[in-house]
Amino acid sequence: MSQKTDQWTSKLGFILAAAGSAIGLGAIWKLPYVAGTSGGGAFFIIFLLFTILLGLPLLLAEFTIGRHTQKEAVSAYRSIAPGSKWPWIGKLGVATSFLLLSFYSVVGGWIVVYLYRAFTMNIKGIAPDEFATMFEQTISNPYLAIFAHFIFILMTIIIVQGGVQKGIERSSKLMMPALFILFILIVLRSVTLDGAMEGVKFFLLPDFTSVTGETVLFALGQAFFSLSLGVSIMVTYSSYLKSKESLPRSAVSIVGLTIFISLLAGLAIFPAVFAFGLEPTEGPPLIFIVLPAVFSSIPFGNVFFILFMALLLFATLTSAFSLLEMVVASLTKNDPSKRKKSSWIAGIAIFVMGIPSALSYGVLADPVFFGLTFFDFLDFLVSNILLPLGALLIAIFVPLKINKKTLAAEIQQGSNMKMIWFHIWFNLVKYVIPVAISLAFLNVLGII
Ligand code: PFF
Repeated sequence: MSQKTDQWTSKLGFILAAAGSAIGLGAIWKLPYVAGTSGGGAFFIIFLLFTILLGLPLLLAEFTIGRHTQKEAVSAYRSIAPGSKWPWIGKLGVATSFLLLSFYSVVGGWIVVYLYRAFTMNIKGIAPDEFATMFEQTISNPYLAIFAHFIFILMTIIIVQGGVQKGIERSSKLMMPALFILFILIVLRSVTLDGAMEGVKFFLLPDFTSVTGETVLFALGQAFFSLSLGVSIMVTYSSYLKSKESLPRSAVSIVGLTIFISLLAGLAIFPAVFAFGLEPTEGPPLIFIVLPAVFSSIPFGNVFFILFMALLLFATLTSAFSLLEMVVASLTKNDPSKRKKSSWIAGIAIFVMGIPSALSYGVLADPVFFGLTFFDFLDFLVSNILLPLGALLIAIFVPLKINKKTLAAEIQQGSNMKMIWFHIWFNLVKYVIPVAISLAFLNVLGII
């Protein structure tokens, strides 16, 4: 009996942790702003295609490595390919998580500020374009931006150092459905505003004439970012799954949830952008301008604003735990006595790394690298280079280093996946993913 309970607990913990890592700023903050600056509908369709054809198989590949080896990322690659350079995929994942969390936490800080604002200001009667000014004025204050970034990373450190993420992730059973319901209400308000149809069309009707190599690379990065792929976090999360849990079913549900929330985010934002005469090209501040404007147009707007920011903060924290955990695990090397110290060291280093990003909407607003601010450069580097690169290496590693029969046996354990689906998956991983990512890279480099 007790064993049954344990298995159930670990299976539930796994799904909650993996979904908690996936669902966060990627779908809710990043998708609308990248779609807004990259042509809307065409971007969204390409993103969907990549999520299903590349993201889903890759998620299953990471799950398979983890459950097969029962080891966290770096050791997982080492145990399959001892004495080789392949464990560097795990190390690349650690470095990527470090950089990613440094700017993720800056946006987490913006949420903290907006949650505070939701409590303290009356949003009723404020004109939509005033929210843009409000964002600029707030976030350009260097002390506030750094302080908010600090508060967010501090919350992440405190939870990870105590090793209590699992307890918190448990509450996502309640928080996630609440976030979804609230989002549906926002969508209903947004699409019924005067002039909303323009926004729906912008987001859902593709205009492929505007597609460039960059749009494709951005959509690829977005697909990996929102599913937490390419960093081997999903390898670590599935490593303690001993039960006969169905890996394909878990992967499909996480992908389904991510697509659903991305769709809700787009439908909440773009109709309101057009109805309020705002610009879809605002970039990273987009949701912080548009959502308060939507809330100010509904009864009890402040209450919904508070609720939304609190739920968004929760979703963002569960993703941040996974990123910090990845860095901490590489420092502790399975020695639990080092957890506390490692969490503080990693967290403080990430905080320091994030300071230039926190200042990128204030004193460091001028471009520093390749015409981009520090924040935008880091976001570009991580989302569009490092995550796809990690994904490419994992897709090469799996068919090369794990025997096809072993893979089939691992995936079929706990699932009755038909062989035809296995073969489709295998070929997507072996050929389609590497070719698609390589083409996207070569295209942006101007080589093809
Ligand atoms: N998937 C997270 C989100 O969408 O907010 C971000 C993320 C977490 C990306 C962990 C990558 C990762 F390894």
